[in-house]
Amino acid sequence: MARTALVTGGTRGIGEAISKALKAEGYTVAATYAGNDEKAAAFTEATGIKTYKWNAADYDASKEGIASVEADLGPIDVVVANAGITRDAPFHKMTPDQWKEVIDTNLTGVFNTVHPVWPGMRERGFGRVVVISSVNGQKGQFAQANYAATKAGDLGFVRSLAQEGASKGITVNAVCPGYIATEMVMAVPEKVRESIIGMIPTGRLGEPEEIARCVTFLVSDDAAFINGSTISANGGQFFS
Ligand code: CAA
Repeated sequence: MARTALVTGGTRGIGEAISKALKAEGYTVAATYAGNDEKAAAFTEATGIKTYKWNAADYDASKEGIASVEADLGPIDVVVANAGITRDAPFHKMTPDQWKEVIDTNLTGVFNTVHPVWPGMRERGFGRVVVISSVNGQKGQFAQANYAATKAGDLGFVRSLAQEGASKGITVNAVCPGYIATEMVMAVPEKVRESIIGMIPTGRLGEPEEIARCVTFLVSDDAAFINGSTISANGGQFFS
């Protein structure tokens, strides 16, 4: 029977590419989104992938949403915690709200996404968890004290949970994308974006599909011995 995969933030950007790639690999996919109904409807129309609306920052909503995915599609075998936001500002201008929104979505959101599926994975003796972190969690980034803190936090989460899941057939890994051609990166002022591209040895932004291929590999049976790892896909911008 096809395995079921949940992708948070799975209707746009990197998440959209991951949802499509998993479907192409034969998974039954559920993609979540937080706000953009129009885009989600167009995504389902184009891909046939079912979407679910909840805010990853809300534990109860995540738990309820995951229960309805499992009622519709069966137990979740694969979870890709991808949903993330930016609220960039130099630290002296960063507001407590900008800090909290990013922590709640990008870091607590990962807890909220993985915690409800974890007991089922343990019981069934199989699971694949992939957290989408960022090059900026590895190296830091001007105006992203909030975002970089969450993305570095993701790596600690992954390395800890990998140890807990190992004996139960669960792997937990991270992918650290560099700058990828998505709305999030296109929102960076053009001059700044051009200067960032100048720092990428490959000389271009990454494509969402290049991240999706890392994910499809990590969740495959072939990757069973890869646990607690980080795949960096950043065009040589940073080595860790
Ligand atoms: N390093 C050093 N100094 C920098 C800098 C940098 N990277 N970027 C800006 N500065 C400087 C500016 O030159 C300016 O200096 P002066 O005051 O001396 O002129 C100062 O910092 C402040 O600049 P602004 O007043 O223009 O700052 P602002 O409040 O308008 O904020 C900004 C602008 C938010 C920093 C904007 O430049 C920006 O968005 N930068 C990009 C941040 C970034 O890379 N975000 C990543 C988004 S994509 C993503 O997150 C996906 C992923 O995982 C990779």
